Amino acid sequence: MAHRLYIETVGCQMNVLDSEMVVASLKRQGYELTRNIEQADTILFNTCSVRQHAEDKVYSALGKLKRTKRRYPDKIIGVLGCMAQKDQRLIFERAPYVDLVVGPGQLHRVPELIERARQGQGRQMAVSLGRRDGPVEEIRRSHETFDPLRDPTMRPTPFQAYLRIQIGCDKFCTYCVVPMTRGPEQGRPPSHILAEAHTLAGQGCVEITLLGQTVNSYRYQEGGRTYRLSDLLYALHDVPGIRRIKFVTNYPKDMTDDLLQAVRDLPKVAPYLHVPLQSGSDSILRRMKRGYTVEDYRHMMARIRETLPQVAVASDFIVGFCGETEEDFEQTKQLVRECRFKNSFIFKYSPRPGTKAFELMEDDVPEEVKQRRNNELLEIQNAISEEQNLELLGRTFEVLVEGRSKASWKQNETGPVYQLTGRTPCDRIAVFEGTLDLVGQFVPVTIYDATAHTLFGAVETRQPEPELVSLV
Ligand code: SAH
Ligand code: SF4
Ligand code: F3S
Repeated sequence: MAHRLYIETVGCQMNVLDSEMVVASLKRQGYELTRNIEQADTILFNTCSVRQHAEDKVYSALGKLKRTKRRYPDKIIGVLGCMAQKDQRLIFERAPYVDLVVGPGQLHRVPELIERARQGQGRQMAVSLGRRDGPVEEIRRSHETFDPLRDPTMRPTPFQAYLRIQIGCDKFCTYCVVPMTRGPEQGRPPSHILAEAHTLAGQGCVEITLLGQTVNSYRYQEGGRTYRLSDLLYALHDVPGIRRIKFVTNYPKDMTDDLLQAVRDLPKVAPYLHVPLQSGSDSILRRMKRGYTVEDYRHMMARIRETLPQVAVASDFIVGFCGETEEDFEQTKQLVRECRFKNSFIFKYSPRPGTKAFELMEDDVPEEVKQRRNNELLEIQNAISEEQNLELLGRTFEVLVEGRSKASWKQNETGPVYQLTGRTPCDRIAVFEGTLDLVGQFVPVTIYDATAHTLFGAVETRQPEPELVSLV
């Protein structure tokens, strides 16, 4: 009988993509996916270490498997991803019944290692070298990109896909574990990226999201030429079948004019930029080692608004970072009001072993202060998001329909009508009524109501004049 695989994924888009790849490689070996953990003979967790909470979730899920493993010792339990790279043998110590620990740079070995564990060869571990564990080239080689296989059935939708253009990160923000877990920054060759885009388009994919921790820092040297993200965008724009291209996440210092101009000049590139600011205080930015000042970020925003007046900008913030005073936090609030982000992801600082901040700075903002700052900032951002969304009433957007948003439906003369959900070119969520044949299609949706997080609209049944459909 075929092996049955259960996989749970936490963390960022990189992990979602990694899980797609792992599942594809195991399916090649005859595995079948199951959503029921009890029916699985192979249980994998693809993990994240960016905040303590993400790790706690996995350790608690592992704890629940202790009895399962005692009853069914043949079941294989594996921990993959960033926590595997960070904690390594510690995972076996905390959960001795785990069979497999595989870091994000070694995922190509998962099928082989599962097989070994199954044959009774004991615990298996494959991790990459640490950032100080040898010559740079060797460290790089130990973090392999793993992008050979695509499996449309593993994606949230078959017509949308992530495409990795870069692995690792060299920015070393003092709070962040990613440069340790994902290793040195390395761009993938443009030829590989393009070939994969063609494969995806051949599978019916219409939207691709390019992934990199600092995606706009992408560089690749080949034949005496340096390729940048803007060069990739031009090349990908010509791939038949691909109709929308996004890229995340951007690093403020690398938001160059050639990139902004490419976003402006290429209609398939979504007018949406995720460029985390993290804090509105210079002293905090310095302690975070973000490499820019508030003034630098303001200048970047001004350049963005000048080249791309209609673009939506999103940000991330960390509140309660080491040494953050009320005054620092007031400055962050001020920047959020000023920059008018489409949305912001707000996180409470979580000290991460192995980082500079963990080693050298005191986590001195009490949890309740972090929580209050989180709530306050979110409230300001939500008010801005709602204001912006309300400005869009009456406008028509080209929405890529992703699926049903609710279980409810009603019967119409022509058949069942559902509440559908999709995204506008500027990455806003729109919900509207429609039939299921619209899923995977681009449809014009006119907005009639909005909250901070959702646009409510109706599909235009009359073909609108092309110039009335907002591309942004
Ligand atoms: N490479 C991306 C994303 C990194 S992780 C980037 O640089 O933008 C996603 C977000 O998690 C970060 O932007 C940051 O806001 C947050 N984050 C990272 N480390 C954190 C920590 N130790 N505590 C709390 N939030 C953190
Ligand atoms: Fe982490 Fe900073 Fe790299 Fe982003 S840029 S992954 S926050 S070190
Ligand atoms: Fe988490 Fe690793 Fe992504 S730490 S955020 S899964 S790169």
